[in-house]
Amino acid sequence: MTFRELFGADPEGVWLAPGRANVIGEHTDYNGGYVLPIALPHRVLASVGRRTDGLLSVASVQQPGVHVELPMTELRPGNPGGWAGYVAGVATQFELPGGLSVLVDGDVPAGAGLSSSAAVTCSVALALRDLLRPDLAVDDLVDVARRAENDFVGAPTGILDQSASLLCRAGHALFLDTRDRSTAHVPLDLAAAGLALLVVDTGHTHSHADGGYGDRRRECEAAAADLGVTALRDATVETVATIADDVLRRRARHIVTEDDRVLEVVRLLTDGSDPRAIGPVLTAGHASLRDDFEISTPELDAVVDTALAAGAHGARMVGGGFGGSAIVLVDTGSLDAVTAAVQPAGGTYRTFVAVPGPGAHRLS
Ligand code: GLA
Repeated sequence: MTFRELFGADPEGVWLAPGRANVIGEHTDYNGGYVLPIALPHRVLASVGRRTDGLLSVASVQQPGVHVELPMTELRPGNPGGWAGYVAGVATQFELPGGLSVLVDGDVPAGAGLSSSAAVTCSVALALRDLLRPDLAVDDLVDVARRAENDFVGAPTGILDQSASLLCRAGHALFLDTRDRSTAHVPLDLAAAGLALLVVDTGHTHSHADGGYGDRRRECEAAAADLGVTALRDATVETVATIADDVLRRRARHIVTEDDRVLEVVRLLTDGSDPRAIGPVLTAGHASLRDDFEISTPELDAVVDTALAAGAHGARMVGGGFGGSAIVLVDTGSLDAVTAAVQPAGGTYRTFVAVPGPGAHRLS
């Protein structure tokens, strides 16, 4: 299926935006904290062209039978629903009286905690910036893509995924301070150190629009209010220990210790240390997400435990939680053994080695 076959004209361009794996820094983004993602080689290609009939027309190479088409004037949260809502949520933030055609072609696994939705929103946001609003800065596009998720789709995410997709560089992890938006590109050449970052997608999908993610966000806000700080970024291990409510105390403890883990990993990756040293920090992050933040699953815990038992240096779940993927830091020499060890009976998990790829850009 080509854009021309669907829409009767060639697209004005094709834009690429990647999914991401977060090395460390989970649920810190809406607490004003630190994150350290890499862009994946998996990406969305958005072929985009403006129309004259006032319609938004959206199709996906991965869903040949589905073609969503409706007047721009009728777009509102929930209409359209599904993945087309991510495109609509971006389109409604631009002046598009004549309408828009979008063909999406993606290979980021959906619901795997690898930011398939940000790959869609960021590819379309970048396209519309180039076609309509060249004055917009990349940080503005991060906000456009985040608002599409928050206000249109109804998923109360932070800016981790959108920043990773738009700002990451090949061969580097992106160290982002989500409060002041300052960034540093941290070289990450694991292969040169005889290491690989294995991604294990358990295939148990999650949806941020329902339940758990929003609950955690509200609990973090309640803990910050309890401490009298604007965000948990401003709390410390000591102040958090004074929170009376057991659940809120543990949620807050995850955030402050996770911020410290991001800083520790960045230090280890930049001070000449053997990168194997980040392994235990990643594993500590998993324990915190499992025990204090309570967003892991038995499947993800089993991946982490079996990977470590098979000789991995560290492992943790990634993304919003309640399912999805884990990352495993492993010697290249042990990659095959660890990849086999993490598989459940029947070998149903998708696995791949993540090498930091480029952020979003125009392809043609
Ligand atoms: C999801 C959200 C992000 C971030 C992560 C957890 O991916 O979209 O904003 O909160 O979960 O780190």
